[in-house]
Amino acid sequence: MRRIYLDNNATTQVDPRVLEAMLPFFCDKFGNAASRNHAFGWEAEQAVEAAREQIASLIGADAKEIVFTSGATEGNNTAIKGVAAMYAERGKHIITQATEHKAVLDPCHWLAEQGYRVTVLPVDAKGMVDLEQLKQAMTPDTILVSIMHGNNEIGTVQPIAEIGRLCKEREVLFHTDCCQTFGKLPINVEEMGIDLLTCSAHKIHGPKGVGALYVRRKRPRVRCAPVLHGGGHERGVRSGTLNVPGIVGLAKAAEISGREMESEPARLAALRDRLKDAIISKLDAVHLNGHPTLRTPTNLNLSFAYVEGESLMMGMPEVAVSSGSACTSASLEPSYVLRAIGVGDDLAHGSIRFSLGRFNTADEVDYVAERVVATVRKLREMSPLYEIAQEGVDLKAVEWTRE
Ligand SMILES: Cc1ncc(COP(=O)(O)O)c(C=O)c1O
Repeated sequence: MRRIYLDNNATTQVDPRVLEAMLPFFCDKFGNAASRNHAFGWEAEQAVEAAREQIASLIGADAKEIVFTSGATEGNNTAIKGVAAMYAERGKHIITQATEHKAVLDPCHWLAEQGYRVTVLPVDAKGMVDLEQLKQAMTPDTILVSIMHGNNEIGTVQPIAEIGRLCKEREVLFHTDCCQTFGKLPINVEEMGIDLLTCSAHKIHGPKGVGALYVRRKRPRVRCAPVLHGGGHERGVRSGTLNVPGIVGLAKAAEISGREMESEPARLAALRDRLKDAIISKLDAVHLNGHPTLRTPTNLNLSFAYVEGESLMMGMPEVAVSSGSACTSASLEPSYVLRAIGVGDDLAHGSIRFSLGRFNTADEVDYVAERVVATVRKLREMSPLYEIAQEGVDLKAVEWTRE
């Protein structure tokens, strides 16, 4: 059976060039980067330091400002809890927004249980935060704003340079989860006023279980308490023997993404739009979720009225996508991100996230569009609701009665 992977916002295939760069660090150059007294250690340390330079150069940072982590979940936890612990005397207020990944929202909720005050800003129907609301939410005891760059579910890209500027004006630290944009959109921590930034290798065709956290060291010097205590690695911010092959893979993935930044995001955005147009031109009652233009090049999120996302996925098992119902729980609870942008439960249940990556082609996109159109048509043929709606009945106005 032909298999097509359009779930690249969840994870990506490792690029063979990344794997090739990693391989020597398993059996040959296997040293511990913290072993200071022999060549095995030096070799590993050298590779780690070269990786640090590579990651830093992609975001306009200094190598000393990069801390290696196990991924974006750890990066977000360290940034948020680490800053909260260090700046508690200055204030106990943190601002975030409703469509953040759980790896940001849950540490914030945890801090709320520890006595911090957390403001979760709402977003508009396109998924954007309101800068006026952000300004008003900032008080003298605000220590941190955590707002993501690109959203993983709906693709909306937040105005992080403006958010950075607002934070700088008030001397509030700014953390941004760039998991979905690192290596895909230009990022510069100086120009964008970013103090802490999270990224993860497996979203850019690198290995799973490794990522980086940028922590600003100048203007201002950001203090971040560790979440993991131990050997004092990574300047004490993250103890634990470094995942050298993973770090080498992250750096190689970042290098390739950086080199292809001129052409690849534009190619992906064109594929994304091709997919959208091919579907929307052939089907009625399809809604685009997220921002129509300010979105990541990889993400297309559509709601198909009168269709269950899960049924659509089952109808085209050779196509890997995600549905807007939370697969994280046993229940089919609609996604909190779609709820936050005001999508009703019915349309949230009929939503599908298509997400593109380096190895997708126009041919695959055309095939998927055809399969989506055919499957939605088939499902709607079986849907009494669709039939009633076709007769011009407003389903929202119908009062359903039981005989
Ligand atoms: C926006 C965002 N933040 C955080 C994460 C968590 O990243 P990781 O899998 O590296 O822990 C993800 C990935 O699922 C994500 O998309």
